[in-house]
Amino acid sequence: MKVIILRWGHRHRDIRVTSHVALTARAFGASGLVIADSEDKTVERTIKRVIDKWGGNFKIEMGVSWRNYIKSWKDKGGITVHLTMYGENIKSSDVMQRIKFSKKNILVLVGSQKVPSEFYHSDVSDFNVAIGNQPHSEVAAIAVFLDRLFEDDKFSDTPKGKFKILPSDRKKIVISTE
Ligand SMILES: C[S@@+](CC[C@H](N)C(=O)[O-])C[C@H]1O[C@@H](n2cnc3c(N)ncnc32)[C@H](O)[C@@H]1O
Repeated sequence: MKVIILRWGHRHRDIRVTSHVALTARAFGASGLVIADSEDKTVERTIKRVIDKWGGNFKIEMGVSWRNYIKSWKDKGGITVHLTMYGENIKSSDVMQRIKFSKKNILVLVGSQKVPSEFYHSDVSDFNVAIGNQPHSEVAAIAVFLDRLFEDDKFSDTPKGKFKILPSDRKKIVISTE
């Protein structure tokens, strides 16, 4: 199952948050990020530096229209999950079971500011999921959603990069793999 994050509403003053969206998506097991309707080479450079150092594959696309991207994702058989505080509660509903049961590739939609109302409709979002029905952050929402989706399965993955961390109870131990 492939999971891609689509970030709607990126503004240049959001560089840090969008970079954290990308880093969190990568670290929690997503395969890529789409920055819709906007371009930001700083975010791309940040994530490429991290991949170069720590390894793994993570694709960034930007400047694509969210409508076209979602349409083509669905045409190829994928589903869309919009993360929103107004959605079905991740804990008290069976929404995660229904998402997992589909066994399809997932495009996760997150906002920054208020998203267009179309995002809540079934032609855009197959599921509207709330990580609790309280406002917080797209970074936190992505982390919890991916963790529940992959059931804690991604944290022992160590992609092959130039450097590797040896987990330690006390010290910072980083070794070169080259
Ligand atoms: C800063 S919030 C925007 C909140 C904004 N007031 C709104 O009406 O959507 C940015 C993004 O974080 C995500 N988000 C925030 N709280 C969430 C929650 N409780 N559950 C799921 N996603 C959430 C949504 O994707 C939202 O578009």
